[in-house]
Amino acid sequence: MEQPLIEVRNLKKYFGTGARPVRAVDDVSFAIKQGETLGLVGESGSGKSTIGRTLLRLVERTDGEVLYRGQDVGKLSGGDMRRLRSKLQIIFQDPYASLNPKMRISAILGEALATHGLHKGAAARDKRIAELLETVGLRAEHASRFPHEFSGGQRQRIGVARALAVEPEFIVADEPLSALDVSIQAQVINLLADLRERLSLTMLFISHDLDVVEYLCDRVVVLYLGKVMEVATTAELFERPFHPYTQALLAASPKPDPLQPSEHVALKGDIPSPIAPPSGCVFRTRCPQAIEACAQTVPPLEELAPGHFSACIRKDLRGAIDSRLTT
Ligand SMILES: Nc1ncnc2c1ncn2[C@@H]1O[C@H](COP(=O)(O)OP(=O)(O)OP(=O)(O)O)[C@@H](O)[C@H]1O
Ligand SMILES: [Mg+2]
Repeated sequence: MEQPLIEVRNLKKYFGTGARPVRAVDDVSFAIKQGETLGLVGESGSGKSTIGRTLLRLVERTDGEVLYRGQDVGKLSGGDMRRLRSKLQIIFQDPYASLNPKMRISAILGEALATHGLHKGAAARDKRIAELLETVGLRAEHASRFPHEFSGGQRQRIGVARALAVEPEFIVADEPLSALDVSIQAQVINLLADLRERLSLTMLFISHDLDVVEYLCDRVVVLYLGKVMEVATTAELFERPFHPYTQALLAASPKPDPLQPSEHVALKGDIPSPIAPPSGCVFRTRCPQAIEACAQTVPPLEELAPGHFSACIRKDLRGAIDSRLTT
């Protein structure tokens, strides 16, 4: 098999020390192929941002491995890590908070270039800044403005331009749309889709919004309480969700036709505390399909169809799910 660009193996991130840490990410494994956009979905607190930040080493992991082209990023020396950092970038959720209000756009983008020693001369730098602004659908003359002179959507474009400044190979987009008005979300989605094609970027796209994930992502990882519940291609996941959690998430997501009744049971109750997650399957306390055995063992991710993995021991449901969806 082709080597993935990013591979995460048994990643754990626990916050706090002592006997009862917050198990934000608890034994998560997945891979992202070159050029692929992988969606990461799950309710608030499931560990999505922590995974994104751990991948970029903005947060140090507790255990496990993060491999970049087969190389463990945790073992890189300072210099190698700096070089790698320029290849890995993040776009944050809040375009208001993530841009320094006192800096002109030219300085914000110039700083990103300078940090990585790119385009050193003033002329070369200005040319690159103009190019970047045009890449994200803004104009060269916008460089002399301050962040407050832009709309939310335009600010997020500047955030994207800053991430692109260093010609990254991999971008973590952590809820890049959620602070934006619905009316401008579509612009940023289209921008990301377009850049991905043009620059052949590899992306981890973190979102609550399943419609956007369906539109933008090639594959999806479904996370619950720091654990992977299901992994599949986008088409498979939305047509044939195996895991009861994924089924519930899809049922809870607004449908294009609100009159069409949902056949799934919506999620009830709150996510348990990640300090004391349930034994066995962490989803069992909210799962409409849970049986006693679910409390006993942590269900492994099993490949139920090619490339389609689910972590649920209810083997008896698998046939039922299949036949319901094919009839
Ligand atoms: N620095 C931190 N210190 C302690 N606990 C943290 C820290 N960062 C995150 N957590 C906890 O880790 C868990 C996962 O948080 P994370 O932010 O990764 O979730 P998320 O899936 O991104 O949620 P959201 O959808 O709300 O952004 C949560 O229980 C959170 O409270
Ligand atoms: Mg988050």
